[in-house]
Amino acid sequence: MDVHEVELVMSAVKEAQYPDTGWPEVAFVGRSNVGKSSMTNVLINRKNYAHTSSQPGKTQTLNFYDVEHKLYFVDVPGYGYAKVSKKQREQFGQMIEHYLTQRDQLRGVIQLIDGRHAPTEDDIMMYQWLAYYQIPTLIVATKIDKVKSSSYTKTISAITKGLQLQANTPLILFSAKTKRGKQEIWDWIEQQTGV
Ligand code: GTP
Ligand code: MG
Repeated sequence: MDVHEVELVMSAVKEAQYPDTGWPEVAFVGRSNVGKSSMTNVLINRKNYAHTSSQPGKTQTLNFYDVEHKLYFVDVPGYGYAKVSKKQREQFGQMIEHYLTQRDQLRGVIQLIDGRHAPTEDDIMMYQWLAYYQIPTLIVATKIDKVKSSSYTKTISAITKGLQLQANTPLILFSAKTKRGKQEIWDWIEQQTGV
């Protein structure tokens, strides 16, 4: 989709604040600092609409972006961020878990993995959890501009093995810098949401 209109409609901390238009939703999950907000900006053709930061933990609410009045992107707070308190982390966890398991409009989840490294324990737990609930998932290996193209095969196999990727979970190499993978991600989103 060629996006012209986008608007952050809600930074939600509880269910009552989620939008109620019924449009399909795609959520972005991944470790703090992995590049969720940066990928959002590339997909919507904006420079820094979703606030990015080199400091992890920037995004702390469920952020609903109205995309072309057709669907929502939902930027989810990053997991594995140590600096928030234990209580805060538990609250995030509950909010995210509730959203991902109970939200009728949710059509799929894009899980971002740092393409430079093998998946972490947190990444593996998140993926296994999504698989358990049979939530349609796309894996995006990001920051791929930092990986030599001669190592792409290695990256793919490290992620495939590390996560024990199911045959029905696609994996796309992405860079917010070069925009590599943008079209493939959009293709998946359109397929899941029917927009
Ligand atoms: P939280 O909101 O804290 O969960 O982080 P996030 O996942 O939204 O990460 P964000 O998009 O803010 O990016 C974190 C840092 O990584 C920023 O300094 C970005 O510029 C950088 N970054 C994100 N994507 C890429 C990429 O594809 N390539 C490179 N080289 N840097 C990237
Ligand atoms: Mg963010």
